[in-house]
Amino acid sequence: MTEKLIIFDTTLRDGEQSPGASMTRDEKLRIARQLERLKVDVIEAGFAASSNGDFECVKAIAEVVKDVTICSLARANDRDISRAAEALKPANSGRLHLFLATSALHMEKKLRMTPDQVFEQAKLSVRFARNLMGDIEFSPEDGYRSDPDFLCRVIEAVIAEGATTINVPDTVGYAIPELYGNFIKNLRERIPNSDKAIWSVHCHNDLGMAVANSLAGVKIGGARQVECTINGLGERAGNCSLEEVVMAVKTRKDYFGLEVGIDTRHILATSRMVSQTTGFVVQPNKAVVGANAFAHASGIHQDGVLKARDTYEIMRAEDVGWTANKIVLGKLSGRNAFKQRLQELGVAMESEADINNAFARFKDLADRKSEIFDEDILALVSDESVAQDNEQFGFVSLFQHSETGERPHARVVFTVEGKEITSESDGNGPVDASLKAIESHVKSGAEMVLYSVNAISGSTESQGEVTVRLQNSGRVVNGVGADPDIVVASAKAYLSALNKLQSKADRVAAQG
Ligand code: KIV
Ligand code: ZN
Repeated sequence: MTEKLIIFDTTLRDGEQSPGASMTRDEKLRIARQLERLKVDVIEAGFAASSNGDFECVKAIAEVVKDVTICSLARANDRDISRAAEALKPANSGRLHLFLATSALHMEKKLRMTPDQVFEQAKLSVRFARNLMGDIEFSPEDGYRSDPDFLCRVIEAVIAEGATTINVPDTVGYAIPELYGNFIKNLRERIPNSDKAIWSVHCHNDLGMAVANSLAGVKIGGARQVECTINGLGERAGNCSLEEVVMAVKTRKDYFGLEVGIDTRHILATSRMVSQTTGFVVQPNKAVVGANAFAHASGIHQDGVLKARDTYEIMRAEDVGWTANKIVLGKLSGRNAFKQRLQELGVAMESEADINNAFARFKDLADRKSEIFDEDILALVSDESVAQDNEQFGFVSLFQHSETGERPHARVVFTVEGKEITSESDGNGPVDASLKAIESHVKSGAEMVLYSVNAISGSTESQGEVTVRLQNSGRVVNGVGADPDIVVASAKAYLSALNKLQSKADRVAAQG
């Protein structure tokens, strides 16, 4: 029987540590459900002890996502572990992921502990965790830069205490594929009880080698779990990208000889959901999910692909969720066609009322835009500016005037806790005037650290998708808004970011 490669998704934990990528509870739940549809094996839902918000997110995901193992990160101490175990109680299948740094640098400078103290703490923490749960992963943080002799000692001890997965992080993205693969191979060969645990790779992308290193850890090192994130999201240069590692193992099954359980048809929708939620735009030439990943611009390539697809294509675009016919719906499409398209795109709506609400917005959009693409539908369903019951601000309407030689002026109508407010302002441009109009009433004092516009389906007829990143009192949030009018999309994005600034969270950062 072919061996399985376990796909451990950490978009909601390590990915979320990326500055500006923090997500609300509802956003995390939506992504977790999508990851379940994608059929990942493990979802690292958060770091429960880092904040009450993270605790609630892990718990909420454990309550609703039942077909995937739900994991929480925890430092190797009793308090963190108990908190994580508590959050994971509702899970059908839960995992505790303990981490403790083992490199000389981290032990001395960060932990201020001796190697013997770290050894004891690692052992005792796994013993404690094992009394709470059967599925225990242990990560020696900065493992790749740790002394191999010391690492062997620690890993042998934690396996003896009952750790079921051993993850070897390249925390700072320092590894080189061949060296990392051999590093894991040597550990497995030297540690007498190494066969009692599943070995896992966790690579950061600082030198652009996270995917290559992970694959070497699998091929050379014999790891059978890969930790990865959608779109390679993660701190600094990010993590190993799920879509790339999965498609590499599937496309080159001749070489890896492993099975992955991922339903690859949901890859694109998941990538878009994560990108729209976090405001981290996917570069056009990104493998698998970039807009150009399957586009053939050169005449020679186009000619070749028309004659025989595999002349220039090693994967089928539809296998990762790209649709051949991109025009999907129009003004005359009915509710059933809309609902079916949502299902095909892997978008789950909670209730018939939610579908009705999204359908009404679809009709409104179809009145203004003759062709509706998949991208439009995805933007529409993730439009956060539609005032939710529990949100403070909602967009209503906007008027703006701009003319060469005149200073632009905007009047924005929006709701504050259900009450309509009209606010006006001048600005350098119509977007600036609109956002200043909102801010002059709200007085959030937030600093804008990013403003970006993306044409959703590539032409001037398309909807503009705007991301606004705001920073206030050390918190960074993203707001996303979409509309055929980019000034309106900007106002929506700004209001959505303001809503997120309302939900307070103070958290302990995971080092990884
Ligand atoms: O990169 C890292 O070392 C981590 C650990 C917490 C697993 O993310
Ligand atoms: Zn990490």
